[in-house]
Amino acid sequence: MNTLTHSEEKILTLPSDQDASGRTLGDEELDLLGEAIRSGTLTSTKGAFVKTLEKRFAERLGTKYVYACASGTAAVHTAIAAIDPEPGDEIITSSITDMGALTPIIYQGAIPVFAEVDPKTWNVTARTIEPCLSERTRAIIVTHLFGNPCEMDQIMELAHSRNIPVIEDCAQAFGALSNGRPVGTIGRIGCFSLQQGKHMTTGEGGLVSTQDESLARLMFLFINKAWGYGDPNPDHYFLALNYRMSELQGAVAVAQLEKLDGVVEQRRAMAALLTEKLRGLPGLETPYVNPRDRHTYWKYCLRIDGEEIPGGAVGLAKLLKEKGISSAPRYIQKPAFRCAVFQEQKTFGKSRFPFTLARPEAVDYSLSRFPLTFAALESILVLPWNERYTEEHVDYIADSIRQAIHQLRG
Ligand SMILES: Cc1ncc(COP(=O)(O)O)c(C=O)c1O
Repeated sequence: MNTLTHSEEKILTLPSDQDASGRTLGDEELDLLGEAIRSGTLTSTKGAFVKTLEKRFAERLGTKYVYACASGTAAVHTAIAAIDPEPGDEIITSSITDMGALTPIIYQGAIPVFAEVDPKTWNVTARTIEPCLSERTRAIIVTHLFGNPCEMDQIMELAHSRNIPVIEDCAQAFGALSNGRPVGTIGRIGCFSLQQGKHMTTGEGGLVSTQDESLARLMFLFINKAWGYGDPNPDHYFLALNYRMSELQGAVAVAQLEKLDGVVEQRRAMAALLTEKLRGLPGLETPYVNPRDRHTYWKYCLRIDGEEIPGGAVGLAKLLKEKGISSAPRYIQKPAFRCAVFQEQKTFGKSRFPFTLARPEAVDYSLSRFPLTFAALESILVLPWNERYTEEHVDYIADSIRQAIHQLRG
């Protein structure tokens, strides 16, 4: 049984996305992996698995071009390289996102400009992006945080009005829909991560998607050292990296893709159940989802009101830990712009490039500019989530939260 007795209290071990208990990895992956190994061809330049993955993912998404790459970070880097900003150009991004969505901007010589987040979803919105626009804005990257889609209609309207390309970071949002449209197909480029904890995984890996033929060509080249495979006079056409996915990862990803619908369905069903069970608890808000959208729950994120629940998200997390539930207050310890790479502009040698080219307003990270971001981080409590959760796990989580709140409220 999954239970231990501890001071007469039942502690349920939850499935974890960090090992087999919370993942769907099984015989299907092993069979294809065996096939890849027996073929002896482990590079995607010659093998068939990565190409199959790209084709099937594109069909599923309903987009023309998909390329696999080494990670979600590599996917974002590939997207930005295809946009090809001039040094010092600005790329608007979210103040609550993964560092892997930010460092590629700097590597391409551009300046990340942080937009505030919506207090209900913690996503960037057209309203929070607009004040960040300048004559130097070259692109907008939106993160569909925790699997909850951004309000893409309004964001696209704003971007179209200024002729600025939008990159969708869908690392956490496989299968999500924004007003009925799949994320990753709405902006000019979509980026996905196949890292260990994502909806589908190859340990590390990434995917980029686009409908645009010329961007597709640039992205393919960027992943392949910009070598013109198949061209009559190939060359390394521009500065680029080897960001290829191997056939070993491709084989696993092909099997994982078959399971994606089931994964999304189970995550959503169990999330709906938890939302139901937590309804009406004081000081706690369950995830806000626009009724036109489809949230696919990479994580299940609560908002905790520290006035109502003494100790707030941190206090609640501590009590949940005693029940074996390892939640994460804040999600990220600090906004990325509070990390050394931004605070000390630690980039290439002592150059501080590209920050040396930045408008002062673009790199003003004062607290007063980000009240919503700081308030959001104070109230966020991220619950671990995965497709192996059952009603029993959800009951346990809901009961543990109810008891913890009761205890904290005295
Ligand atoms: C929103 C977001 N963007 C980018 C990344 C980077 O992906 P990877 O870790 O695969 O490089 C992540 C990873 O967790 C992410 O959550």
